Amino acid sequence: MAAIKETVSNLISKISGSAEEAPREPSAEEFQQLRNKYTEAGQGQVFAFVDELQTADKSRLFHQLSTFDVARINELADRALNPPKSEQTAVTVEPLPDVATASIIDSDPADVKTWYEAGLKQVAENNVAVVLMAGGQGTRLGSSAPKGCFDIGLLSEKPLFQLQAERIAKLQELANKAHGVQSATIPWYVMTSGPTRKPTEEFFAKNKYFGLSKDNIFIFEQGVLPCISNDGKIIMESKSKVAVAPDGNGGIYQAIVTSGVREDMRKRGIKHIHAYCVDNCLVKVADPVFIGFSASKNVDIATKVVRKRDAAESVGLIVQKNGKPDVVEYSEIDKETAEAKDPKQPDVLKFRAANIVNHYYSFQFFESIENWMHKLPHHVARKKIPFINPENGEAVKPDTPNGIKLEQFVFDVFPMTPLDKFACIEVRREEEFSPLKNARGTGQDDPDTSRDDIMKQGQRWVEAAGGIVITEDDKFGVEVSPLISYGGENLEFLKGRQIKAPALLEKEE
Ligand code: UTP
Repeated sequence: MAAIKETVSNLISKISGSAEEAPREPSAEEFQQLRNKYTEAGQGQVFAFVDELQTADKSRLFHQLSTFDVARINELADRALNPPKSEQTAVTVEPLPDVATASIIDSDPADVKTWYEAGLKQVAENNVAVVLMAGGQGTRLGSSAPKGCFDIGLLSEKPLFQLQAERIAKLQELANKAHGVQSATIPWYVMTSGPTRKPTEEFFAKNKYFGLSKDNIFIFEQGVLPCISNDGKIIMESKSKVAVAPDGNGGIYQAIVTSGVREDMRKRGIKHIHAYCVDNCLVKVADPVFIGFSASKNVDIATKVVRKRDAAESVGLIVQKNGKPDVVEYSEIDKETAEAKDPKQPDVLKFRAANIVNHYYSFQFFESIENWMHKLPHHVARKKIPFINPENGEAVKPDTPNGIKLEQFVFDVFPMTPLDKFACIEVRREEEFSPLKNARGTGQDDPDTSRDDIMKQGQRWVEAAGGIVITEDDKFGVEVSPLISYGGENLEFLKGRQIKAPALLEKEE
């Protein structure tokens, strides 16, 4: 595998949004060389209409095809379409060892306080960065804009990106106050993809970076891979363009190296990284408890989990599989395993650590990416992929899946991590996890459930601080601006005050 080069200049030019340039016209010799490479690899159909193309389109096709290693694409496609028969080795699945786990629900509050304070100190010392995975296409939600721009129907109409930005701002403020400094900075690295990059950049600029400093926001782009037909051929979206799709949230590892993100982190002296998904409206961005817990364990990777609702809930679980940290999917475990009770706590499931794709990494671990990145598997997602029929040039919109997208998963790195370098902390679902996956009206993980979960959380916070929330005619909830409270703290001023739901508590200008 070719070495990955870190190119800060590349990152910087991308951030400043360089205008789309007309592609350089390749020489006839260059073009022929590329054509030979694809033809020899059995992918010559990508040039089926080249003789009909105008010079600019021909150049665009040349440049797009030049970005792929066709031999490697063939290899990935072949492995994905004809997976090697798994050898029938026994698989043992066990929960992670106690020493690697903790639970906010069961922990001594003194421990949680210690982690929080240690994490906040790391923030104050500018050792903490966040990486947002926002390269997905959000097909189930069905919005044409990136998910982070989505207004889930809060009273404030704040989109997801803004909630996250305000949590960052508040945390910087809390760290400054706690440590008598003024410069606490949490750089925010936002991973986008071909389809989400431009609208994300425009949205951030239009909203003046939600009050954060532009210098500390880095919008970068993950890679794409060609879509492949069921018989292993690269699919053309048009006569001059290959159909491509983002390479999955596991593309984060390659992207943070090639985009210069890692180099920027290195320059800033970042030690701890929080990575999370854009669609979780309750995400505690750069959570000091998580940072403090993970740092105290001195691990490479830590992950947050929520308690599985019941044995039948269809979620991936964080476990140790054959002695290595891993994720097992719901379908991979039998009913008996799913229903087994924890011998130490017979009222809870033995396997209850539900994966919410919310991770901690040490920067040191990011330094080793080149050693294992090429080992991450590619998963197959069967999709309906619009294409140009190479026989007759007709555009086709298939009704059934006609090909595959190849995706890496961010957690496939877990089994490559030694067990003693991996930790897991259970957090309260109602406080930290409510993903936006589906279109409004679905009733599950949709904009309404996201909004309701924020409103209920705010109401809990207000009531815990001694406020009285008046709920009439099924109306409920308080939206507490993250600029007022990051995690329910500093709301004592509401003690004894009556608030009629639904209400918005916003910071005064
Ligand atoms: P999902 O797998 O839920 O995908 O992503 P999605 O794109 O949001 O939604 P669907 O499946 O198309 O309906 C989980 C997280 O991983 C990110 C998403 O942006 C989301 O934060 N992701 C996914 C990426 O960053 N890149 C990808 O290539 C895929």
